[in-house]
Amino acid sequence: MIHGQATAVAVVVAAGAGERLGAAVPKALIPLAGRPLLSHALDRLERSGVIDQVVVVHPPGYEGRFADICRTHGVGTLVPGGVTRTDSVRAGVEAIGPEAARIAVHDAARALTPGDVVARAVAAVEGDVVAAAPGLPIPDTLKRVSGGEVTATLDRSGVWAVHTPQVVRADALRASLAWGRGEAATDDLGLVEQAIAAGKVSGRVVLVDGDVRDLKITYPRDLALAERMLAAEDRAAAPASGGAT
Ligand code: CTP
Ligand code: MG
Repeated sequence: MIHGQATAVAVVVAAGAGERLGAAVPKALIPLAGRPLLSHALDRLERSGVIDQVVVVHPPGYEGRFADICRTHGVGTLVPGGVTRTDSVRAGVEAIGPEAARIAVHDAARALTPGDVVARAVAAVEGDVVAAAPGLPIPDTLKRVSGGEVTATLDRSGVWAVHTPQVVRADALRASLAWGRGEAATDDLGLVEQAIAAGKVSGRVVLVDGDVRDLKITYPRDLALAERMLAAEDRAAAPASGGAT
């Protein structure tokens, strides 16, 4: 344990194909500034200082490449994923021992998540808060569109975009996955929300302040954006030239 609280284990789901990115290899292996996305994501979790163990969920057939990356980062648990993201989350959670108090499910496709975002989401899960994730309010006006025609303007007040890591109390995530009717949920919080609504889990679900750098690399343009964000971070971290310390 590295932070004086109950054990937090990250499940990094990296088993997707990355179809929208259109590359020949799974998305987590795509290089960003010369290193695979998965390697960046693992670095960020490590830097947060609040994650005690990591499980990586890899695409079946790519175990060797993923094992090499995991070894570099001291990650000892690697399991094959499933057809849907929820299947991959389930596979990762099944590989976690009873010592886990909180499970942080994180997308390998979010390569630049700042450590303080991870720390905020993990810290939020205590007391009656059973699940938490970072997010940001949506600044754009939202419209429902059908065949290019606007059918409604939606009320965007209080509407947030949700990122990862999505952190859930371990017993609640296991119960939500075992209940098994949240398959329509597109995220881990959604799974828990549905289990709460069905009376299988109790507690509150909250969002904490996220960061634009926690973007999910989905399309080729996101890779270019992530490169620029990384370069800006490196410039900010570089010591000012010629200045006294
Ligand atoms: N993921 C997974 N198992 C799946 C599907 C997705 O582990 N069966 C992971 C991806 O590897 C990614 C995260 O879930 O880290 C978010 O998914 P997404 O961004 O949609 O990635 P892909 O499914 O790989 O991309 P695409 O949908 O474009 O194929
Ligand atoms: Mg996908």
